[in-house]
Amino acid sequence: MSQKPPPKQFIKTPIKGTKSTILVSSAKGGVGKSTVAVNLAFALKKLGLKIGILDADVYGPSLPKLLNLKEKPKSEDNRSIIPIEKFGAQCMSMGLLIDEQTPMMWRGPMVISAIKTMTQKVLWKDRDIIIIDMPPGTGDTQLTFAQEVKVDGAIIISTPQGLALLDVKRGIQMFDKTGIKILGLIDNMSYFKGDDGKKYKIFGDSGVEKTAKEFNKEFLGYLPLHQDLRRSADKGEPLTHVDPNHEVSLLFKNIAEKIKSSLN
Ligand SMILES: Nc1ncnc2c1ncn2[C@@H]1O[C@H](COP(=O)(O)OP(=O)(O)OP(=O)(O)O)[C@@H](O)[C@H]1O
Ligand SMILES: [Mg+2]
Repeated sequence: MSQKPPPKQFIKTPIKGTKSTILVSSAKGGVGKSTVAVNLAFALKKLGLKIGILDADVYGPSLPKLLNLKEKPKSEDNRSIIPIEKFGAQCMSMGLLIDEQTPMMWRGPMVISAIKTMTQKVLWKDRDIIIIDMPPGTGDTQLTFAQEVKVDGAIIISTPQGLALLDVKRGIQMFDKTGIKILGLIDNMSYFKGDDGKKYKIFGDSGVEKTAKEFNKEFLGYLPLHQDLRRSADKGEPLTHVDPNHEVSLLFKNIAEKIKSSLN
């Protein structure tokens, strides 16, 4: 009788220079991963953590725009890369190494190699946490993190409409299959508060929270569709950094507290 071979054991390399590493992810594009990742990072900074932000979206890097980064990272030995410092955060993105408008037309092995470089060759220093902004989908980048990088957990972002939730379910199963702990789900663009003070639930009601329950995962909170969040993102000044008492920043603070305590 033939026996099943044992599952392949991957050697996962931790990112040096940080105590924890968290992925911000969603199988769906455009749900606000990058915006939430950056604002959450600065909300964690306000709680006293030393933060790093790694933009793992090699095809469509957002971090240079979200933090208005212009400087090119330097290297002292042509092998390692010194991250860029902004608002007290150490930052790294493929977008810092190439021209902003150059399309990245890369095959899988090049993406894998770029991810390895950004997780092994960046000289992160003395960080409590590195937040990783993941690209959409369940492709090469996700697989590289699952197999090669030691991460402490993942946060899944979604908007609450049915079409997005289908991708959330795929995302949950991907992390469960690859053994990455899901710290929780966030419902982004949950509602829009009108001038009349009423909450308009444009994309439906409580979809992400229900999905979290269905899969026995933690639900971390609701974030509204808010012009100030979009505006600050376009300006390169995260709302949680420039206006930590803004009603939306306070919602981020609440989520950041849950994440901080789940790391202890
Ligand atoms: N809660 C929100 N309120 C207002 N605008 C938002 C909110 N969340 C995200 N946005 C805006 O939505 C757009 C898409 O957000 P973002 O780029 O963060 O999504 P993404 O999931 O990272 O996309 P991609 O899949 O392309 O990486 C941006 O213009 C951003 O400013
Ligand atoms: Mg993004």
